Amino acid sequence: MSEGKTAHSNCRKTLRFILDGETVELNDVDPNRTVLQYLREDIRRTGTKEGCAEGDCGACTVVVADIDPSGERLRARAVNSCIQFLPTLDGKELLTVESLAGAEEVLHPAQRAMIDCHGSQCGFCTPGFVMSLFALFKSNASPTRQQIDEALAGNLCRCTGYRPIVDAAREMYKANPGSDSWLMQPSNAEAGADEQRRIAKLEALFADEPLGIEGCGRKFFSPRELDHFAELVAEYPSATILAGGTDIGLWVTKQHRNPDVLIYSGNVDGLTDIAVRGGCLDIGAAVSLTDAMEMIIAHVPALEELFVRFASPPIRNAATLGGNIANGSPIGDSMPALLVMDAELILRAGGSSRSVALADFYLAYQQTALQPGEFIERIRIPLPGEGNLVQSYKVAKRFDQDISAVCGAYRVRLDDGKVAEARIAYGGMAEIPARAMKCEQSLLGSEWKEESIERAMRALDEDFSPISDMRSSAAYRRQVCGNLLKRFYLETIGSPAVRVYSYGR
Ligand SMILES: Cc1cc2nc3c(=O)[nH]c(=O)nc-3n(C[C@H](O)[C@H](O)[C@H](O)COP(=O)(O)OP(=O)(O)OC[C@H]3O[C@@H](n4cnc5c(N)ncnc54)[C@H](O)[C@@H]3O)c2cc1C
Ligand code: FES
Ligand code: FES
Repeated sequence: MSEGKTAHSNCRKTLRFILDGETVELNDVDPNRTVLQYLREDIRRTGTKEGCAEGDCGACTVVVADIDPSGERLRARAVNSCIQFLPTLDGKELLTVESLAGAEEVLHPAQRAMIDCHGSQCGFCTPGFVMSLFALFKSNASPTRQQIDEALAGNLCRCTGYRPIVDAAREMYKANPGSDSWLMQPSNAEAGADEQRRIAKLEALFADEPLGIEGCGRKFFSPRELDHFAELVAEYPSATILAGGTDIGLWVTKQHRNPDVLIYSGNVDGLTDIAVRGGCLDIGAAVSLTDAMEMIIAHVPALEELFVRFASPPIRNAATLGGNIANGSPIGDSMPALLVMDAELILRAGGSSRSVALADFYLAYQQTALQPGEFIERIRIPLPGEGNLVQSYKVAKRFDQDISAVCGAYRVRLDDGKVAEARIAYGGMAEIPARAMKCEQSLLGSEWKEESIERAMRALDEDFSPISDMRSSAAYRRQVCGNLLKRFYLETIGSPAVRVYSYGR
């Protein structure tokens, strides 16, 4: 950087996004203002509701569209507007329930189907359901019952019951939209003129300098290049790095904390790409969980249930793998699985990078190896080779949208019936997500049989002294963590898998 210049000298001061085909330009925005507050309080667009203000109920669901990695199609994804900060909309298109009728003012197939199938009573949840249905309509041309359930996992209804809403999800594909607007066409439709127009508008918004705004004494930066991001993090070492905001959003809405400086990773080239390189899944820290999990499941199918049970689609569309790791929660769901696969993190500070094994990243309760001015750049997950048995189980009070009481992950490699390599890790058993070293040692070299598993289950008592909290008692955690190991063993020797995730298969 040349003398007198800061990492934000050339930033654009006006936030710009598309709403109903028009470019919205905003100055003096409070960076911590949520999209929901903007919709309901600033522009009185009250179709979008507030239920919980913490990402749980789905009443606030909106759709955010951007250009997909092919550069040729629009990607429409549901997110929870209650925990999305307004400046993250920069360069994107926002769609609310009011947007769906479009210029023609004809009900959208998702809206029509909700009426025809009696999918609404008090109506409070309805706009959120409609937006989740719309996101499904734009992403899956022929969903199975299970995919419909998944798409609606982030929306709660307390009066109608879900059957009529599931009926509406099927019914919406039968309507003839009678319009070639992008909104009205299901996902398999060719990109039409309307979609191309929308893409061109977004490209024009993105052609400008990166956003760097100040409002209410707080700053928000949205760099596009990795070096710029690193410079900003170095210039503001106590800034908050904002990824999906599904943790940080709650700091603001529930704990009334207001970060002074937010540096947004969601638009940074070099943090948002994903590839298979050198036998590893190489995932940029700001890749959404939706995209990261698609790639992980494609290579390690056993992890499908774990990731489908991670929060809900709107949360996974916003949340990132980097955010889950950096947050350092002892009950974060991705870490046990990443620990058993020997994942490593690439950490960067300014111009220099270092590699840290995930197993060495957590130092104490919510304390990590990250230094001030340092951030997670990439997550590298070695692909388990031939002969590795891998699994992860989540135990929570509900199937969808719940935080784990215990989350266990397992990887063993057998050689001639004996354990040649063992990785066992748990969340919810200690103040950090951690490997069960005593348990692993007791398995090494042992025959893969029930006696060895019983011994390894006893060793878990030496590894962990869990606590009792609102999610479960210490005794339950202790029992469950051993039982999950046994379940893993039984499944590997051919006992039928105990799948809770089997609806419609
Ligand atoms: C309704 C709801 C349900 C949830 N369910 C689950 C669940 O089932 N399982 C689960 O594990 N979690 C769950 N969560 C928690 C949350 O969604 C995850 O932890 C998520 O992965 C956080 O990612 P994010 O991108 O949103 O992080 P953010 O909120 O943006 O950031 C989280 C933390 O990570 C830091 N950070 C982000 N990126 C970087 C980086 N590149 N380098 C350094 N620091 C960084 C931030 O500064 C912040 O401290 C849930 C949350 C909600 C609201
Ligand atoms: S208001 Fe409940 S998820 Fe946003
Ligand atoms: S219709 Fe009342 S909460 Fe769903």
